[in-house]
Amino acid sequence: MFKEEEINDRLSIFRNDKIHFINSFEEDVKTGLTSEKKYLLPKYFYDEKGSELFEKICKTKEYYPTRSETEILDILSDTISERNIDKNMIIELGSGTSVKTELLIRSFLKEREELVYIPLDVSNIIIESSRQLTENYSNLIINGVISFYEEGMEFIVSRFNSPKIILFLGSSIGNFTPGESIEFMRMLAKYMNETDRLLIGFDLVKERKILEDAYNDSDGITAEFNLNILSRINRELNADFKIENFKHKSVFNEEDSRIEMYLESLSDMNVDLKSIDEKIKLKKGELIHTENSYKFNKKMINELAERSGLVFSDYYTDEKEYFSLCAFRLNRNF
Ligand code: AVI
Repeated sequence: MFKEEEINDRLSIFRNDKIHFINSFEEDVKTGLTSEKKYLLPKYFYDEKGSELFEKICKTKEYYPTRSETEILDILSDTISERNIDKNMIIELGSGTSVKTELLIRSFLKEREELVYIPLDVSNIIIESSRQLTENYSNLIINGVISFYEEGMEFIVSRFNSPKIILFLGSSIGNFTPGESIEFMRMLAKYMNETDRLLIGFDLVKERKILEDAYNDSDGITAEFNLNILSRINRELNADFKIENFKHKSVFNEEDSRIEMYLESLSDMNVDLKSIDEKIKLKKGELIHTENSYKFNKKMINELAERSGLVFSDYYTDEKEYFSLCAFRLNRNF
């Protein structure tokens, strides 16, 4: 099921060859756009253009999460490395370009002769970034895994058995529902031993204006990112959304502690999704819900951990306390 490709003597890529066969884009779009409250799943933001736009969002002055998390890693990577001196393997889920992780890798390599880094992602993007990392660090071994998370984790622990840290950075957990977060953390707990640690980035609750500005930047990049999902549907499903008839909208829902992103229809319209033989109607002012981004406090994080069979082992934040990196270990009493 996993095919190995040796890129150089310190870099191998293991590819789950089933990954290409599971594509439910058509079905998910159909379900979302024909339901009473229309929605689209945020994982479909990330086509080539969407991934580029997300990189740009991370550099806007309003979108603080990337900078805050980088600040934590900048200042605390050495501490994290020292506190985990028994571990010489880092697994990273959704690693993308591994930019922030490099800070941690650098610290780990200061105190170890060798480190095994295992980026796990659905995308080929890990190949180029891993190649670059092996060029930069002569005592780094990389075994990249291209797969969905659960199958990937199962493969990794069966093949590479070392005390480890599992990383899930970037507050990506905020895009899951609370139920999905628990399921995800439980899945990871299943692959952890007593000494292993799980490190997750959580964006914290803060003043409404700061939150809403981060999802409505003044250069309009987030708006473009949100609208791009309609261009993707037009292209891939031969649809005729008039993009200029939609407006990006984001609002902090305090009760549910999440930023909600929508596309608002500016007129009544009919849309034909030819490839899937579906016609939909939108009323002026109607919303398509495209994303939730949960914002946490320590109590909420603790609750997620408790329900996943995990407990806090460390809690790191940036100076403004905008963001937190939480380390968890297994709860022996679970
Ligand atoms: C990927 N994810 C953590 C981002 C977030 O902040 O929820 C996605 C994003 N959506 C709009 N801006 C950024």
